Order: sequence, then C-alpha cells, then structure tokens
Amino acid sequence: MTDRYQKAFDTAATDFERLGEHLWKPIGRATVERTAPEPGDRVLDACCGNGASAIPAAVRVGDRGLVDAVDRSPALIEDLRSRASGLTSLATHAADVTSWPGRGYDVVQAALGIFFFPDMAAGTEHLISRARPGGRAGFTIWRRDAMVAPGTYLRQAVSRVTGNPPEPRPSGPVEEIDVAGAFRSWLAERGLSDVTVTTHELRLAVTPELAWLVVTGSGFVTVLSGLDEAQTAEVRAVYLDSLLRDGVTEFDATTLVGVGYSQGSNALVM
Ligand SMILES: C[S@@+](CC[C@H](N)C(=O)[O-])C[C@H]1O[C@@H](n2cnc3c(N)ncnc32)[C@H](O)[C@@H]1O
Repeated sequence: MTDRYQKAFDTAATDFERLGEHLWKPIGRATVERTAPEPGDRVLDACCGNGASAIPAAVRVGDRGLVDAVDRSPALIEDLRSRASGLTSLATHAADVTSWPGRGYDVVQAALGIFFFPDMAAGTEHLISRARPGGRAGFTIWRRDAMVAPGTYLRQAVSRVTGNPPEPRPSGPVEEIDVAGAFRSWLAERGLSDVTVTTHELRLAVTPELAWLVVTGSGFVTVLSGLDEAQTAEVRAVYLDSLLRDGVTEFDATTLVGVGYSQGSNALVM
C-alpha cells in the first residue's frame, strides 16, 4: 500500500466508521458468514480496518477463542480498540500483515485488503501460510465494476475544478481476477484447495450525504489531497451535480468472497 493510501485510511477514520454502516459492516459480515469461525477458533483478521469482519469473528469464537486483528493504520486500530474494549477474544495490532509472524490459525480472513498489498500474490500467499493445514482462508474483493462510478465522477469533478486532466483510474492486478471463475483459479494457484467463490450483492442508494461519505470515508479521499477547503467544497458540488444530472441512483458495491482450505505443513501453533 502506498503512503498516500495509508495516510488516507488514517485521516478518513471518522468517516470510515460512518460509512461502515452502509458498506464495510455488511461486507465484513458476509465475509465472516463464509469463513465461519467456530467457538474456540484462532483467527487472523488481516487488514482489519476498524473491525467490520474482526468484531463478528470475535463474537463467534467466544471467550475460548482469539482473533488477531491486524491493520497498518494506527488510527483505525485505535478506533477498533476503543469500540471493542469489552471483547476479550479480540487482540488488536498496528502492523504490516504481509510480514505477520503468527501461524497455525484455524481461519485467516481479509476483507477488501489484499489488493492494497504491493505484491498481491505474495502477500496473499503469506496470509494463507498463516493457516494451519486444513484451516480455512477467505478473501473478499470487489466484483468487476463495483465502486467504479464514485471514483470516475470524483476524478472528473476534481479535473473540472483544478483545470488539470482527470487522474487515471488506478489499476492493478486485482482487475485480472475480479470475476468469480478467475478469482477461484487464482486462489487455487496460491495453494488453497476446494475453493468456492460467492457473490455478495450490495447496492448503495445514492443520496448527497451517502455519495460524499463514500469519498471521505474510503481510499477515494486520496483524490482530494492537495485541494484547499474551497476547492474541496467546489468538487463536492460538481460531483453531486453530475451524479444527479446523469441519473445515478445507486452505487454497485458487490463483492466476491473466496474461501478455501490450506494444504500447508505449518502445523505448529506459535
Ligand atoms: C478498504 S479497508 C478494509 C478494512 C476492513 N477489512 C473492512 O472491511 O472494513 C483496507 C484496509 O487494509 C489496510 N491495509 C492495507 N495494506 C495493509 C498491510 N500491508 N498490512 C495491514 N493492513 C493493511 C488499510 O490500512 C485499510 O484499513
């Protein structure tokens, strides 16, 4: 993950929480329904943010279990700590999960995280290697075209306000695997067996408040970096006007959840 994105997740923490009700939490719950931790399980929740999947996992494993929730953003980890202080099965860590040393987990999960890794394949393989043989690993990514509209409209609005050409849409290797069949094959190539991919349909009804929250409570906020307060207000107005003008009434926020079994030989619990 670039420093630019890291700063964004740190500074977006409050709006990240507000957007969570609409976006991160339903996706986190859908992830945990698929990875299905059981009472007493040890779970690694990678890229945990402020706990959309880590908290439901900690509730499921109960007092006898443990969830290690790891995120690089100290602000989100701090937020998670304060919100989940009564959950004894949750341990929070501000760290880069691509070098996380713990292993032997019953379940490893990462909701909307792996595509931020500088090397998505190597980072995902590292996470899979943290599961015990026969343990489950589950990864959630956006389905093709999900969450594209807000970024497109936002970059066009910034371009209108600054007079610069629109920033190109960031692209990465995840775009080669963002349909169910390709995601399934890619996870199998990373060493998981019996991979299944399910689609979690989610559509956000576009209101002015929600449409702007999608910008300020997510990585899209990086697009605003370098703008002053007046320019940001202008971008907001242009962005919302153009959504209205084009009749955009919902954002597609559909995800794919891929789950499989580790075949590794890392039997020792740390
Ligand atoms: C889109 S958020 C998703 C957060 C959470 N899983 C959720 O669904 O609400 C992506 C998160 O990945 C974290 N992240 C990205 N790269 C990371 C890394 N190498 N190690 C730990 N966390 C990372 C970011 O800090 C950010 O909180």
